[in-house]
Amino acid sequence: MYFCEMRIDILSLLPELMHSAFSASIMKRAQDKGLVEIHLHNIRDYSDNKHKNVDDYQYGGGAGMVMRIEPIATLMDKLMSERNYDEIIFMTPDGAILEQGTVNYLSLKGNVMILCGHYKGVDNRIREHYITKEISIGSYVLSGGELAAAVLVDGIVRLLPGVLNDETSALTDSFQDDLLAPPVYTRPPVYKGWTVPEVLLSGNQQKIDQWREEQSLERTKIRRPDLIKKQNEG
Ligand code: ADE
Repeated sequence: MYFCEMRIDILSLLPELMHSAFSASIMKRAQDKGLVEIHLHNIRDYSDNKHKNVDDYQYGGGAGMVMRIEPIATLMDKLMSERNYDEIIFMTPDGAILEQGTVNYLSLKGNVMILCGHYKGVDNRIREHYITKEISIGSYVLSGGELAAAVLVDGIVRLLPGVLNDETSALTDSFQDDLLAPPVYTRPPVYKGWTVPEVLLSGNQQKIDQWREEQSLERTKIRRPDLIKKQNEG
């Protein structure tokens, strides 16, 4: 028997952008099993004026519209009156770059709210008074925070106990120990003359484990030397 581990509320102007990300495969299974509830909210539904405006010109002039404070604050106040949130996250290219450690940390929380930005940004008072964490998924600019939020939520949900079939598989992910995962192969053993490393077919588990460790280390040295450096410093 599972109880609901986590609730995630996502506030967005384009919630439909995230529907498919959460309605297939592992994300779907996690929700079907009751391990996570993902609630998508359309900020426009909380607009206070008859035109349902959600953006406005920025004070001081300049190109680009800014997301208005009222609809977002109204929705956040409503949600916060219903339960306590462990974190209120803003997806933004000027946030801290997302790393596995943050994903692990968030997977241990009960209630998480995520705000997706759009236009030139959001009235900064939202960031000053509501947001507890600002996250970027990389040094590039997307047209909105929705796809970034989907990436974050996917990373979190797959770590919740009971979501993955093979409980150990999240533990051997790349990055979980600051090492990249070793290469993997499946049948057939020979394809177009291309072979699978002998050791994997040897049946000698000790040798296989040792080979995987070496491959992990080698791959990390070549592809992500910064991770090795981080290990030596930590
Ligand atoms: N919104 C726009 N670009 C983004 C990024 N790189 N990460 C998170 N949110 C964003």
